[in-house]
Amino acid sequence: MAARSDAAEGFTHEELAALQLERLRATLRHAYAHVPFYRESFDKAGVRPEDCRSLADLARFPFTTKADLRDNYPFGMFAVPESDVRRIHASSGTTGQPTVVGYTERDLDMWADVVARSIRAAGGRPGQKVHVAYGYGLFTGGLGVHYGAERLGCTVVPASGGMTARQVRLIQDFRPEIIMVTPSYMLTLLDEFERQGIDPRTTSLRTGIFGAEPWTEEMRREIEERFAIDAVDIYGLSEVIGPGVAQECVETKDGLHIWEDHFYPEVVDPVTDEVLAGGEHGELVFTSLTKEAMPVIRYRTRDLTRLLPGTARPPFRRMEKVTGRCDDMIILRGVNLFPAQIEEILLRTPGVAPHFQLRLTREGRMDALTVRAESRRDACAADRTAAAEAVVRAVKDGIGVSVGVEIVDPETLERSVGKIRRMVDERPK
Ligand code: DLL
Repeated sequence: MAARSDAAEGFTHEELAALQLERLRATLRHAYAHVPFYRESFDKAGVRPEDCRSLADLARFPFTTKADLRDNYPFGMFAVPESDVRRIHASSGTTGQPTVVGYTERDLDMWADVVARSIRAAGGRPGQKVHVAYGYGLFTGGLGVHYGAERLGCTVVPASGGMTARQVRLIQDFRPEIIMVTPSYMLTLLDEFERQGIDPRTTSLRTGIFGAEPWTEEMRREIEERFAIDAVDIYGLSEVIGPGVAQECVETKDGLHIWEDHFYPEVVDPVTDEVLAGGEHGELVFTSLTKEAMPVIRYRTRDLTRLLPGTARPPFRRMEKVTGRCDDMIILRGVNLFPAQIEEILLRTPGVAPHFQLRLTREGRMDALTVRAESRRDACAADRTAAAEAVVRAVKDGIGVSVGVEIVDPETLERSVGKIRRMVDERPK
């Protein structure tokens, strides 16, 4: 396989493309030679690794889906002997079989490099302390960012998720500059600071690196103002590596630069599977370029976004903030709706706190959606009524569908310690 190089940040577009092609061809050969699943799927599609002579030729190769990974549970997608696998992670998924991923020593090394690059792009520097409140364990969040922060030369506080009062204590005592956590758990921490009578704007934190779930610009503003920090987005998925596939740069906060020397992106139409041009919205697809233990070829992420030219970190392209997944889309009486659209509206509405949940029920033959959101502590009964009416109107005008809205008391909705579950589907099966 191609040699590891972290110099790609200073590459020209041509140099990057040449490196990508060389690595892509090596990955296709590696996958075809060592993973029966890829051999069969390439054979079925009538393509061989040698058929890839340009980056555009990748479109001739078949896609890989989460179902393919599940069918090959647990280790069927590995391209190296099990004894060469140094680490295993798994994502639980909401239904059935977990998805298993494996890493060789070199994969772990590359992962630490891309996470280190991400933290630096977020504004982190060697010598700073990083409080990691992503969960440690089979989830890639905790351990993934842990080794990247160490690689950059930071001091890591491996707090993991949960025990919220203790998290606040650790932040007060250890004085980290950086926190890495899901945005929803950051809100839980915010409440805890306030409960303990500490002004969140007075902490040592300067930078928050948030990911693992969708969050909106409105949520960024809320977190930045209430904590007096820079809030930037980190993206990744276990199948591709974990956190550190793409990162938003603190100086521009304009979407996430994809570390394209290791992960080759495409955006496809989720229905027709056609590859879309830059700037067009669709489903993000990744091909790993340097992975040994578990190369992925054209992996369908289900995440919706679009590709844009690089700004702060050329030659890398950016992906727009992911605010929806194909799977999260609610079709309500023929109208498509994503939880992030509701988040945007709620955070623009005075009197409403950023904690909310969506309840999907069935009334007769029609689906109905109820938005339950907490009121801010200082909101009175009249404010709540006005807020509920404003949200109903904004959803109707902005999204084009009628929903029910309940404004509930502060601290009554379930809090997240990791990835939040926004949707509760109570429709009869
Ligand atoms: O969530 C890896 C990760 C950990 C990323 C910590 C960032 C920080 P999985 O559990 O495999 O891996 O879930 C991957 O989470 O396909 C997206 O749907 C969603 N996701 C991850 N990052 C973002 C983000 C980790 N920044 C799935 N914005 C992905 C929106 C995100 N969605």
